[in-house]
Amino acid sequence: MLRTPENTLLRGPRVLLRRWRADDRGPLAELNADPVAMQHFPAPLTRSESDALADRIEAHFDMHGFGPWALEIPDVAEFAGLVGLMHVGFEAHFTPAVEIAWRLAPALWGKGYVSEAAHCAFDFGFRALHLSQIVAFTIPANLRSLAVMQRLGMHTDVQDDFLHPRLPVNHPYRMHRLYRMDRQAWLTRACS
Ligand SMILES: CC(C)(COP(=O)(O)OP(=O)(O)OC[C@H]1O[C@@H](n2cnc3c(N)ncnc32)[C@H](O)[C@@H]1OP(=O)(O)O)[C@@H](O)C(=O)NCCC(=O)NCCS
Repeated sequence: MLRTPENTLLRGPRVLLRRWRADDRGPLAELNADPVAMQHFPAPLTRSESDALADRIEAHFDMHGFGPWALEIPDVAEFAGLVGLMHVGFEAHFTPAVEIAWRLAPALWGKGYVSEAAHCAFDFGFRALHLSQIVAFTIPANLRSLAVMQRLGMHTDVQDDFLHPRLPVNHPYRMHRLYRMDRQAWLTRACS
């Protein structure tokens, strides 16, 4: 398993992906409590649920050497959200797999920050971690997230739609759409 330095920093033209600091927990909790940011999740998170998520992110970095990074936008926001890579934590037809995840403060939507950060995360996943594929998924109503997947050039197939096993059987958000990016496709695209 490739281990990355504790302080891994990925930089795009406008964004910076970094390891988490203790003082990120407050703004992370604000983001996770925001009804707009969380509208496509089962519910906003309480402070303790948000802190538990931060703990799981740290544990993922400790175990795998990568994870969802804290997203900083220099001169704009020291903490804007999260973008990064993590092992899918449930079983489905496409697992084991590494997913790319993103969550951005709504005031910063519509400026391309997440697409830029996801570009850095893909480069890291395919070039440094040598992953063969990275997936992303969300509910069909989450048009902004689907647009990021499409903007990045990820591909989808209706046969990959799946019922999220962590949601109750009749939950309205159970159906998820899966997008995939293959290493070869990314490297070819990045070099073109
Ligand atoms: C999903 C989410 C991250 C998308 O945020 P976003 O701001 O729409 O995505 P980006 O940062 O890539 O920005 C893209 C937008 O910026 C615009 N843009 C401006 N400059 C740009 C640039 N340099 N590059 C790319 N896009 C740019 C694009 O046209 C697009 O605008 P549009 O929505 O009007 O078409 C955000 O809605 C979010 O955090 N949602 C809540 C959490 C969530 O649902 N996460 C996903 C769960 S799987």
